[in-house]
Amino acid sequence: MSAVLEPKLTGKTPWFAGDVPPDEVPEKYRLARAFVPKARYLDPDFLRLELEKMFSRTWQIACREEELPGVGSYVEYEIGAHSIIVVRESRTAISAYFNSCRHRGTRLAKGRGRVGSLICPFHGWRWNLDGSIRLVLDREEFVPRSDEDLGLVRVRAEVWGGFVFVNMDPGAAPLLDYLDPIARIFEPFHYENMRIKWQKGVILPCNWKTALDGFLEAYHVAGTHPQLYRLDKTNTNIASMKELENRTWSPTTTYERHAHYSSVGQKKIDTNAGNKVKDPGKQQSYGVTDPREAFALSVQYIFEDMKGLENDRSHRAAEALKTAEIPEGATAGQVFMGLYREIVETEGYAWNDITPEQWAEAGTAWNVFPNTILLPNQGSSFMYRSRPNGLDPDSCLFEIFALDAVPVEDYGKKRDHEPQIFEDFREAGLGEVFTQDLMNSKEVTVGMHSPSFDGHRLSEDQEMTVYNHHRVADRFIWT
Ligand code: FES
Ligand SMILES: [Fe+2]
Repeated sequence: MSAVLEPKLTGKTPWFAGDVPPDEVPEKYRLARAFVPKARYLDPDFLRLELEKMFSRTWQIACREEELPGVGSYVEYEIGAHSIIVVRESRTAISAYFNSCRHRGTRLAKGRGRVGSLICPFHGWRWNLDGSIRLVLDREEFVPRSDEDLGLVRVRAEVWGGFVFVNMDPGAAPLLDYLDPIARIFEPFHYENMRIKWQKGVILPCNWKTALDGFLEAYHVAGTHPQLYRLDKTNTNIASMKELENRTWSPTTTYERHAHYSSVGQKKIDTNAGNKVKDPGKQQSYGVTDPREAFALSVQYIFEDMKGLENDRSHRAAEALKTAEIPEGATAGQVFMGLYREIVETEGYAWNDITPEQWAEAGTAWNVFPNTILLPNQGSSFMYRSRPNGLDPDSCLFEIFALDAVPVEDYGKKRDHEPQIFEDFREAGLGEVFTQDLMNSKEVTVGMHSPSFDGHRLSEDQEMTVYNHHRVADRFIWT
């Protein structure tokens, strides 16, 4: 019998050339059509495989460029047992090194800060910012070793959109190839002109992927965030059957490595008419009689509750929308964008020209494989990053970064930045929507441990982002 090389997948579950045939994956980890076995979340051996084979070979966002404002500024990025130090080597160069002394291995720098040279806290060996050895105390007592042997070991570091990515694999493809098609699709959103407004991390009692999965689809909105369908955002009672009829539909799109979902702002029934474009000009009004009010309140609720993705400019534009004239043939969303643009340009910010086609391709939220999510929007964005917490598959560090455009004249300005970490997400002041999402993380984990549960049964229309992550992971883990 020859090996079965064709996937046993049919329907809309993604399969790309070069994917690992299912029968080459151990049964307990094997994907099936729109099905992900639970061992991929709960098994400590699987986490070890992820760390050894996947995190060691993929590009990951270590920090933002603005976190390295001056020569010698550094940020530590930890992943599994590895610590990487990202340093601004010169005004134009950012470098990354394994954060490990060449003498006896001591970690050289922790957290973030600024140094003139890297100095080991143990016996005081020193390195220049380019990683070359500068000082070995009593070097004549050591076996002669080349400066090269004593230099810090480099980790790949490349920048896109103001994000500093690192990759421990010296043979990895360049960042821009790896990101495809994200760099092209995100270009009109100009992430390089945004800066971190706030950054909060929370320790969650769930697998690092469970934390991400909760933000990789909008199928959960009806169940988790019913207030988003209501004018009265304080009403978080479970959605009625009538309200469920008005739910929006959020299809997923998968690429070779990355994937996204699109909250198209349309009911499932309406999308049959072929209108699958996420365009702020075409948002649903949830049966509210005044579409200006409905649109304005949803923008304002996102800003007030989530404190990101929207901003004070879009919030004010939404306020003006409530009493604005809507010309014949225009929508509230289109008028809103005009008002928003006026505020942005008057106040010295750059306005991003984004065509309906570009909005459609950008969708709502992307899994930047493996461990980040980006939500593109006009002038603001969220980024989420999730990492395993040690070797416990049921614990992770999940971080939220609110990114916001700054006025053009402030592009070169240094900014203070202090990330916060909370042991208990309920003390992080994250608002209702995030709290609802994060509440799910523990419940999913408890339920997944039940012997009755074997794995995720996913929607082929709205949850293939979740599946796609595992499909791509297999390419790193089993090849
Ligand atoms: S361990 Fe770093 S100088 Fe000795
Ligand atoms: Fe959510």
